Amino acid sequence: MHMARKPLIAGNWKMNNTIGEAVVLAQEISNNFEKDWLETVDVAVCPPYTDLKPVYSVFEFDKLKVGVGAQNVFWEPSGAYTGEISVPMLTGIGCAWCIVGHSERRQHFGETNEDVNKKVHALLADRTRPIDPIICVGESLSVREEGTYVAFVDAQVRAAFAGVDAGVAKDCVVAYEPIWAIGTGRTATPEQAQEVCAAIRVTLADLFGQETADSIRVLYGGSMNEGNADTLLAQPDIDGGLIGGASLKAASFIQIVKAAL
Ligand code: PGA
Repeated sequence: MHMARKPLIAGNWKMNNTIGEAVVLAQEISNNFEKDWLETVDVAVCPPYTDLKPVYSVFEFDKLKVGVGAQNVFWEPSGAYTGEISVPMLTGIGCAWCIVGHSERRQHFGETNEDVNKKVHALLADRTRPIDPIICVGESLSVREEGTYVAFVDAQVRAAFAGVDAGVAKDCVVAYEPIWAIGTGRTATPEQAQEVCAAIRVTLADLFGQETADSIRVLYGGSMNEGNADTLLAQPDIDGGLIGGASLKAASFIQIVKAAL
C-alpha cells in the first residue's frame, strides 16, 4: 500500500438485509471493532437505502466512525422521478460515501458511462457535507479474454471523470471490479488486480496530474475475502477493497479490515 494513501475497506451489502438484520450486522461489526483501527484504515458499509439510517444510528450511538454509504443515487436533486433517491436525501441521512456505476447496475439496470458521469457530478457538486463517490469500473470475461481490458477500463475511467476538476477528483475513489470475479469466488490474482489498478492510476495521472493521481484511492473488488485480502492489499496500487459477499458476515468483514492495518 502507498504510504500517502489511507486504505479504505468498504462493504457492499447489495440487496441484502431487512432493517432488523441490518441492525444486527452493524451491531456485530461495532462490537468487534477497535476504534484505533480507524487511524490507519477508513471503513464504510453500504447497505440498501432502507437500512441506511438504522445502520448509521448504530455506529453513531457507539461513537464509532465507520462511514455509511449508499449503493446508488440519482443525479437530480428532487422532482418527479418516482422511485429515485437524490444526493440531498443521502446527505440528510449522514451518508459519507456512494457507490456509483457498479457493474450490476450497468448490467441489470442499463446504466451507461454517461449516467455514471452525471451521478459523479451530482455527488461532487456540494462539498460542504461531502459524499465521496466510489466509482466502479471493470471488464467482462469476454473483454478479459480478448485482452483489451486495460483500454476498456481506461475508457470507463475517462467517461466517469469527464468534466471533473482535479481539485474535487481527489475526493473520489475508484474501485476496479472485474465482472468475472464478482460473486464467483474467482478472485483476480494480486498481479492481475495490480496491473489494472496501476493502469487506472496512469489514466488518472493523464487526466489530473501525478500528484492528484497519487492521492486517489484505487480499490479492488471481486471475491475479496479474509483469505486473500492480505496479498491483494499488499500490492502498491491497491488501496483497499470493495467487499460484497464477505461483508455480510461481521467476522469476515472485520478480518479484512484487520488485513488493511
Ligand atoms: P463480491 O462482490 O465480493 O461478492 O465478489 C464485490 C462487489 O460486487 O462489490
